[in-house]
Amino acid sequence: MRIEKNISLKKHNTFGIDAKAKFFCEITSINELKNALRRNDYPDKFILSGGSNMLITKDIEALVLYINIKGKEILEEDDDHVYFKIMAGEVWHDMVLWCLDHDFGGLENMSLIPGYTGTAPIQNIGAYGVELKDSFVSCEAMNIADQSIRSFSKDDCNFGYRDSYFKNEGKGKYIITSVTFKLTKRNHKLNTSYGAIEDELERKGIKSPTIKDISNAVVAIRQSKLPDPKELGNGGSFFKNPVLSKSEFDLFRAKYPEAKYFKVSDDELKIPAGWLIEECGFKGKRFGDAGVHKDQALVLVNYGNATGAEIIDLAQKIIEIVFNTFGIKIAPEVNIIK
Ligand code: EPU
Repeated sequence: MRIEKNISLKKHNTFGIDAKAKFFCEITSINELKNALRRNDYPDKFILSGGSNMLITKDIEALVLYINIKGKEILEEDDDHVYFKIMAGEVWHDMVLWCLDHDFGGLENMSLIPGYTGTAPIQNIGAYGVELKDSFVSCEAMNIADQSIRSFSKDDCNFGYRDSYFKNEGKGKYIITSVTFKLTKRNHKLNTSYGAIEDELERKGIKSPTIKDISNAVVAIRQSKLPDPKELGNGGSFFKNPVLSKSEFDLFRAKYPEAKYFKVSDDELKIPAGWLIEECGFKGKRFGDAGVHKDQALVLVNYGNATGAEIIDLAQKIIEIVFNTFGIKIAPEVNIIK
């Protein structure tokens, strides 16, 4: 185990924030993780994965454990399904492509989501009508306090919209080491209900799409409106879409009949924060090196040398103006490291 000192985290977070780790250690196996957590000479530890859903606002005065444990394994299969286990440090999109190469279905709508597989369950990642929980079977996680490994079933994870046990009662207690999915080998359940996918398939003249066609459509849609973190620092959606009760929604809808919405349950509706932010005039606006993306107002961007604090200032301004305009409080989706 090699511990480095004063390492820049710029290339370890998709926002491209140039903060430093006082100590940094790359973890490539479960055993290394166990040993690192037991190091009492570095009492403070900070867990880092793909860095795609975090905003670092200051240097990290701790031992940063960069979880880069690789590997994948088919646990079980029959003619219809495969149970597939993947280690936490595998890049999510590479795993999705691997599944498509093997004609394993279920993850295609979540193509091109940045980040590593191990952190995907924490916020139950989702895109274009599908969420991680739809294919999730279980995950294994190391208890930070005693380094034991525990298996979590889907029920244990208590998944919700961009939410799970790991963001609530389990917060800061576990490090996910692997995830197991149940994927289809035939009779794939295609999900093309999201309007943008339908439009993209129609544009290409595809009438009976394969899972690969759906993935390609999602990649095209994402590339058309979401900035590539390699070119423009960002953390994907900066805010969650607010969920309104039916009565709150009815009042909102009466005033703004043109706004899009999605049904969450019989008495809850979700409205696009991107639309609220755009209506407030923020889309494409730049404040120093911090800005609001020109094609998707839900995404805040770093034009080069923005600090975490500058991005937070912009986020706060947006939250305030959206609230003053619509009476709706939007909340960050990214993990803010203070
Ligand atoms: N919209 C606007 N202006 C904008 C952005 C969006 O009016 O600047 C409107 C769109 O016209 C559309 C609606 O808002 O009618 C929804 O937009 P979009 O399909 O882009 O999705 P979203 O609700 O803004 C969510 C996820 C994304 C995911 C997409 C597609 C959240 C917080 N975000 O965004 O996830 O890719 O749906 O499923 O739920 C992420 O989590 O990092 C992420 C990118």
